[in-house]
Amino acid sequence: MKRIAVLTRDCAGINACIRSVVRTASLYEIEVMGIFHGYRGLIDGEFTFLNRRSVSGIINLGGTILKTSRCHEFQTESGQKKAISTIKDNNIEGLIVIGGNGSLTGARILYHRYHIPVIGIAATIDNDVNGIDLTIGADTAINVALDALDKIRDTATSLERIFVVEVMGRECGYIGLHTALAGGCEEVLLPEKDFDIDTMCREIKEGNAKGKISWIIIVAEGKASAHDIARIITEKTKLETRTVVLGHIQRGGRPTAKDRIMAARLGKYAVELLINGKSGRCAGINNDRLIHIPLDNAIKPKRLEELDEYYKLIKILT
Ligand code: F6P
Repeated sequence: MKRIAVLTRDCAGINACIRSVVRTASLYEIEVMGIFHGYRGLIDGEFTFLNRRSVSGIINLGGTILKTSRCHEFQTESGQKKAISTIKDNNIEGLIVIGGNGSLTGARILYHRYHIPVIGIAATIDNDVNGIDLTIGADTAINVALDALDKIRDTATSLERIFVVEVMGRECGYIGLHTALAGGCEEVLLPEKDFDIDTMCREIKEGNAKGKISWIIIVAEGKASAHDIARIITEKTKLETRTVVLGHIQRGGRPTAKDRIMAARLGKYAVELLINGKSGRCAGINNDRLIHIPLDNAIKPKRLEELDEYYKLIKILT
């Protein structure tokens, strides 16, 4: 194997992973092409050669030095064929895709339809890759959200107010669940869980009557909008509420030590999987051990194993 390419999505820890891919490949005297703008760059032939020096000083940076985009053209056959031309014309013998569900779905298409040697690395703040305990970027995201939440708690406590805080997570409530437990929140609304707003409003009124005035309620974006929930709470309880939408700050920031270590391990592992002829696999870490699973499994819906236990704990500790 003489040349591989790497393309990425966006979250903290991805730069550390690119660094690991490039420096591991250089040990085996394999060239690495960095594809700009994700699948868009594969279609347009937008790339640069990466070497040991070009990835220095990036281990601590959030985002991706390769930039990224959402590419609708890659979902079409003509877009995919253009991407294949870039791969063939540039003698790319293997591709590493670092990203979440959408990126891994693209990797699976390249592998199944076009027989391109591909390894995915699970990296997304959503932690929604099935069969993988924790994706790169998720630990940083919950710590960024938690930092914001601690600040919100300061003012919520001072003014004795109800705050409804919206976090990311369209289909997977990982960020909401973990942030709510770590942040000592009173309630969390998740895509995976049924929810009764009347019960919550009754609990708020009962708590209020006993002197509990400050509440922090987390809403995952895939479940509802914080503004809608806050409006209903005010209507039903007549109490003042404030909303905060944390938004894209959750995807940025300096990667935590945990994310950097996972990124370093997985970057090296992915290169070695390609060298050993593996393909169509997604690399991740379960129980602190490096594993690879079929991309077919990785893109299936994920169930949060800890959901019931953590949710009960949130309610017990309120
Ligand atoms: O998949 C990662 C994610 O950050 C989701 O949590 C969020 O719903 C989505 O991406 C936001 O996408 P965009 O940056 O395109 O608005």
